[in-house]
Amino acid sequence: MPTYILGIESSCDDTSASVLCDGKVLSNLVANQEIHKSYGGVVPELASRAHQQNIIPVVNQAISKANIDKNQLNAIAYTRGPGLLGSLLVGSSFSKSLSIGLDIPLIEVNHMQAHLLAHFIDDCGSKPSFPFIGVTISGGHTQIVIVKDYFDMELIGETLDDAIGETFDKCGKMMGLNYPAGAIIDKNSKLGDPLKYKFTKPKVGGLNYSFSGLKTAFLRFVEKETKLNPNFIQQEINNLCASLQYTIVEILYEKVILSIKQTDISSVVFGGGVSCNSGIITKFKKNESVEDYVSYFPKFEYTTDNAAMIAMVGYLKFNNKDFSSIEKGAKARYLF
Ligand code: KG4
Ligand code: ZN
Repeated sequence: MPTYILGIESSCDDTSASVLCDGKVLSNLVANQEIHKSYGGVVPELASRAHQQNIIPVVNQAISKANIDKNQLNAIAYTRGPGLLGSLLVGSSFSKSLSIGLDIPLIEVNHMQAHLLAHFIDDCGSKPSFPFIGVTISGGHTQIVIVKDYFDMELIGETLDDAIGETFDKCGKMMGLNYPAGAIIDKNSKLGDPLKYKFTKPKVGGLNYSFSGLKTAFLRFVEKETKLNPNFIQQEINNLCASLQYTIVEILYEKVILSIKQTDISSVVFGGGVSCNSGIITKFKKNESVEDYVSYFPKFEYTTDNAAMIAMVGYLKFNNKDFSSIEKGAKARYLF
């Protein structure tokens, strides 16, 4: 008998639902919330209201695109955390109600674990073997994790202030770019000189990151140059993007290489919205033989927030009969 899992993701500003059959994706729908663009960042209250509007149509479409009846579902996997509490509450309440209505098990999923375990989705390319270094890079997180097994993860480094995606987005806002700015900066970078402007890198010990210094230095620099030439940003946009991206990639790279050396683990697995960045992929792929590691990047649709990765974790937990009680609440902060 095939196992059908419905995954529901609502941790930030994307409402997503997906149906997997034995680990294969039958549908994976994502409703983005355009409303945040005009605010230059996610507004939590607006996000949870938009989730409320989107969740029923998105789930219905995911089930109908999978070409199954909802009564064929074997379990519902949902994002319990981490994320915005109001957003998480919409997905978790909906999932609990549906699991009661259909009388099928409920499975809680940690969003950051799911970003890494997305690599085990059937069509996500070659699968890493354990142990590996997991690097989760998104709008809300920058973490280095030792992944010993599917559900045996140890955090060994993280950002002490801004997340890497947040740095892209906030610096993008300083240049007048739309939110989220990561993909725009990435695109502009391809036309610019990465060495035109130099920004200092943070001096943080161990495997932790810090991006707030870069963000401030970038702001000061842009303000200073704009005073001298009001058209500076417009004229230099590609060089600014390329130089900023170059610095961010260098900061990320140094700590990941340090983690490989410290742990003696030579597989590096990326997850999260920033892991589709062309500068990051090029840098890590180019240096594989130099530093003796293999890097894995997810398929594009599994980089940003998506419910297929939630359903994938649901499938792994379903096989372990690792079900969740409906008493468990959403968790804004949730370390695996
Ligand atoms: O994982 P995700 O969809 O949501 C969070 O959990 O945060 O990541 C969203 C982040 C945003 O900060 C966005 O700017 C960034 O991913 N992003 C990128 C690129 N595409 C999306 N950052 C750099 N380069 C990209 N190509
Ligand atoms: Zn995410």
